[in-house]
Amino acid sequence: MSTPANQAQYYARSKAYLAGEVIAPPQEQAPELQELLRYHEWRYYVQDDPVLSDFEYDTLYKQLEALEAADPGLVTPDSPTQRVGSDLTGDSVSVPHLVPMLSLGNSYNAADLEEFDKQVKRMLNMEEDSPLAYAVEPKYDGGTIVLVYENDQLIRAATRGNGVMGEEMTHNARVIRSIPLQAAFSKYGLHRVEVRGEVIIRKDRFEAMNAARAEAGETLFANPRNTATGGLRMKSPKEVADRNLEAFIYSFGYGVDQEGNDAVQALGTHTKALDVLTELGFKVPATGYERETAANITEAADFCTKWEARRNEYAYEIDGMVVKVDDLALQERAGYTSHHPRWAIAYKFAAKQATTTLENVEYQVGKIGTITPVAKTTPVSLAGVMISSVSLHNEDFIKDKDLRLGDKVLLERAGDVIPYIVKPLEDLRDGSEVPIEWPTVCPINTTEVPVPLIREAGEAAWRCPECVCGAQDLQRIIFHVSKAAMDIDGMGKRYVELFHAKGWLNTIADVYRLPYDWISVLEGFGNKSANNLEAAIEKAKQQPLWRLLYGLSIHHFGKKATQLVAQNIEHVLDLADWTEEQFTNIKDIGPTVAKNVTDWFANPANVALLRELEELGVNVKPTDEDRPAAEVTEGPFVGKAMLFTGSLQQLSRKEAQEKAKAAGARIVSAVSSKLDILVVGEKPGSKLKKATALGTVTVMTEAAFLEALTPGQGT
Ligand code: IVH
Repeated sequence: MSTPANQAQYYARSKAYLAGEVIAPPQEQAPELQELLRYHEWRYYVQDDPVLSDFEYDTLYKQLEALEAADPGLVTPDSPTQRVGSDLTGDSVSVPHLVPMLSLGNSYNAADLEEFDKQVKRMLNMEEDSPLAYAVEPKYDGGTIVLVYENDQLIRAATRGNGVMGEEMTHNARVIRSIPLQAAFSKYGLHRVEVRGEVIIRKDRFEAMNAARAEAGETLFANPRNTATGGLRMKSPKEVADRNLEAFIYSFGYGVDQEGNDAVQALGTHTKALDVLTELGFKVPATGYERETAANITEAADFCTKWEARRNEYAYEIDGMVVKVDDLALQERAGYTSHHPRWAIAYKFAAKQATTTLENVEYQVGKIGTITPVAKTTPVSLAGVMISSVSLHNEDFIKDKDLRLGDKVLLERAGDVIPYIVKPLEDLRDGSEVPIEWPTVCPINTTEVPVPLIREAGEAAWRCPECVCGAQDLQRIIFHVSKAAMDIDGMGKRYVELFHAKGWLNTIADVYRLPYDWISVLEGFGNKSANNLEAAIEKAKQQPLWRLLYGLSIHHFGKKATQLVAQNIEHVLDLADWTEEQFTNIKDIGPTVAKNVTDWFANPANVALLRELEELGVNVKPTDEDRPAAEVTEGPFVGKAMLFTGSLQQLSRKEAQEKAKAAGARIVSAVSSKLDILVVGEKPGSKLKKATALGTVTVMTEAAFLEALTPGQGT
């Protein structure tokens, strides 16, 4: 993508734009900003190593947007502002691939790979013991994507389809930021190329997305693969963008020069081809980590088993490795069957699927009353974990799959992601299976009074609107004490359930008046743990206000919204008088949150709960953490970029940084030409050397730093 020299320049020019120092006509600024933003997209989405903050990136983006809005003639199709187009209307279009996209043969162990090696050598008329190098890389488990570039511009993207024809989805590919809209293929004489890759979502993003969807009562995605493949087919590019998809590119499919002659073979090896794609800005499995060039099949097999052992720790879902003859000329000589290339093979990891019987469905209730069905199955081992309970998400999930009690079902566990039911094995039904009846009244409720369930328009979840049995209170207490909300150290679900069973914990207020004397004599407790718990709860009373608001479990009133609201009040009970309009006046607070929060405060029992909490000493006012820090405009370090290195003697690193910030400094993470001051403690390492070499950085001892903060006290 870029040489180190122009990277420093990209950085410097970006900072100049951010500081408003660039004086040039829009005709010069717009193309430069486009180039800078392309660089930062690459740093962020391909390298995972941004050099600007999100805010700075957005600011640059807005500068470009403003220039382009003022003069539409400055807009180019590959401008970073042009990723999101309008929604698609009509059905998708089938397009032929430049070269048919075949499948891969499968192997499962080292012996299979050795057999493959022998076959390849036979095809190539090679001696069995002559050396043959292989490129090995992960087999990503997502959706295939085929990208066509012409004259260095992305002109088309398609799914794999049936291998010959794919579904055109250029609009959607354009919002995947790891896919460059332009790439300098011409540097390698490539005029028209097809590159192939896999669109995937990081496992942690997948889980976070599902957690947010569960919170909002929306349908959950079954697994990362479906999230990616489904994402490629969405009609609205905006929705695709929300899925945080990424594209790993794993090969050229085709590439010709201006005259139409092949220009890929000249690269020599698959390894070199991937190096070139990396250089051109694509996200490619990295050498030395995800991919390796093995000198022979034994080394290739070792790399495969190494990855099988670490697949769960990897950020993405992979279902195996792909082993490819490295030499491109030999690949051509080995050729293809109608089904797969003879020069490549998939090494498939142990299956993460199993079948078992669906015995029963139980229900759970969440903190806002969401009813979640859970399948109870005959215990079965799935990739080393015994499974007997699997979430069925909601009513639609059961209906769409037509699940019945007594069904044999196919289970799958994707990576470290929770197991799910892929489908019932309909062929194995004998007629004794019983359809699952969705309950009309709350199935958890233990009282005599039945509570009808409700399902709001646009939501997938059925909810119990009026809990009369206390089950929802229990879930709310569990959430209230959790890390996400009041973050009471050491107090988790287990304690809450235990204290609830003892009758000590029925409301959120009870958390703050637990009978520690009794707790200390519970089995497994003792004075020490009771004291620790008390200390943790006392500490939690001082949590910022947003955590208290978040810990109330008001439907849709999430972390972001509670933080915004906490900034705008003096006391939690101010909200009792707020109108919906006052909420929606806050930027980013929508009508649903406004309505839910006003409804909640309209209930006198809820207001009484907050009064009780205040009396128990729980903080009900905004703290420093709730209030965004005002920009420091005075102090010895205003506008300076600072960095600390080595071990400080008088202050902790954190204290020093806080003091520096209070005195106007910005703390940066690395030595660069933008660093103004380096404060060195004892045993400074490479940072000091680097800063000295730059010659532009002021180096300060800890004592000098303290002296600058409070003259006269530095030594
Ligand atoms: S090479 C001619 N390399 O696996 C086919 N495929 O059966 C050559 N896949 O859906 C394919 N990671 O999208 C290749 N590193 C990788 C891959 C990979 C995932 C997918 C591919 C296709 C299937 C091939």
